[in-house]
Amino acid sequence: MAEVVRLPAPEPLPEERPVLVVDLGGQYAQLIARRIRECRVYSELVPASITADEVRARHARAIVLSGGPASVFADGAPRVDPALFAEGIPVLGICYGMQLMAQELGGRVDRTDAAEFGRAELQVAAPHSALLADLPRDQVVWMSHRDSVVAPPTGARVTAASPSTPIAAFEDAPHGLYGVQFHPEVVHTRHGMEMLKHFLYDVANAPPVWTPAAVIEEQVASIRTQIGQAQVLCALSGGVDSAVAALLVHKAVGDQLTCVFVDHGLLRKSEAEQVVETFAGHFHVPLVHVDAADRFLARLDGVEDPEQKRKIVGEEFIRVFEQQARDLGDVPFLVQGTLYSDVIESGGQSGVAAKIKSHHNVGGLPEDIDFELVEPLRMLFKDEVRRVGEELGLPETMVWRHPFPGPGLAIRIIGEVTRERLEILREADAILLEEIRRAGLYRELWQCFAVLPGIRSVGVQGDERTYAYPIVIRAVTSEDAMTADWARLPYDVLEAISSRIINEIPHVNRVALDISSKPPATIEWE
Ligand code: XMP
Repeated sequence: MAEVVRLPAPEPLPEERPVLVVDLGGQYAQLIARRIRECRVYSELVPASITADEVRARHARAIVLSGGPASVFADGAPRVDPALFAEGIPVLGICYGMQLMAQELGGRVDRTDAAEFGRAELQVAAPHSALLADLPRDQVVWMSHRDSVVAPPTGARVTAASPSTPIAAFEDAPHGLYGVQFHPEVVHTRHGMEMLKHFLYDVANAPPVWTPAAVIEEQVASIRTQIGQAQVLCALSGGVDSAVAALLVHKAVGDQLTCVFVDHGLLRKSEAEQVVETFAGHFHVPLVHVDAADRFLARLDGVEDPEQKRKIVGEEFIRVFEQQARDLGDVPFLVQGTLYSDVIESGGQSGVAAKIKSHHNVGGLPEDIDFELVEPLRMLFKDEVRRVGEELGLPETMVWRHPFPGPGLAIRIIGEVTRERLEILREADAILLEEIRRAGLYRELWQCFAVLPGIRSVGVQGDERTYAYPIVIRAVTSEDAMTADWARLPYDVLEAISSRIINEIPHVNRVALDISSKPPATIEWE
């Protein structure tokens, strides 16, 4: 009788067995998913309304319950399907997530006087805790809570304490249930990443195999399926998102892709040339370079109001793009560099996270254009897009380019946008960035740019009195542009910037530094 040979079942793709982060509204929910991916385990954010059946259908490796702004006692506080805890899938509750577990699983949460915000001293109470294995007995963690767990879930043991929170961590290993009151995902929790790795690798048995680069193969295949033999269009902005999205699509369908680069004449020095050189020259992507500077400047003539400028640039951009799309004939697909954070923020996956960001994406595309969208970056965070860009060979300056607003330099020139003033700002900005790069500071900053205010001041150069423009330096650090702090640039770097700008650029006799944080200021001046 023929022997039946059983082939081993193929290992599922990481995407097929995600770690699901249930978004309970905390500001760190996205960060948890990012950290898990940094541990090379694929992770997605899901809304609190997810059911145990849906989790099962996703073959989730593990579930992480995020923190939340709410108190478990608040009206409308987010809850999860209690059946999640009975699936045999490991669960890690963080902060609010931990409290929710305690409440659902026979423990108790109280509004104690033990509110803790910021740094806390954690003491590991159980040497054999899976989560805290091999970590120092005393360590620094980051806390942010008012309520506290005062009795762990039935059957769980307390594994760590802090001076004001006696139950700072619990675990019920046989049932795969873990809770921590502190935030392992933030850098201030010294051993946070090790804890997450213990949970992922040791508790959930998730192999560390996922990388952003793995997305390339997968996306190329799915783009081919989506587009088939049809034509596809992509608007390049000079930014990393549209560039990486375009390269992925080009890798998938080659010259079926046409990129349109609407050069509004409001980019930084050499940026337009770099886009053309990279895409047409280096990658041989079919590129339509529309030099529309005259059109944009003509419409901006005499306009001083910031909102008016934004509106004009936005409208004009759409007009030029639509014309190009019509000229190219029947193109059913349009590439968009939508990121995972956009998907989450627009409520695509999660409805709970407080929507603080009002997005003013001027330079975006018309909403009523009749295209089917191709969005190859939909599941990636910004830092992952950068890694994919590096993998695809995109130049370093594009991969790491600071965010740049759609209306470009038009909103960094206060008052009227003229060719002369554009030229001054462009030169000042180029010197600024050159010195920042030379000092090795570029990647540490969220954004760094020059602003040209609409005033002049008196100076003296040689024996002559001057009446010329100041340049303002704006350099900020930030995580997400929602809040920002002014960067403490070293004095010697500031000195080099100032003297070069004043000496090398005619019509500038003064340099000032913007030392305002956001809020109350914004990052841009207009
Ligand atoms: P503000 O100035 O509001 O900027 O603190 C927050 C972030 O958004 C960028 N920004 C824009 N991005 N189109 C964009 O694509 C725009 O119209 C726009 N305006 C501001 C800004 O550079 C910062 O990163």
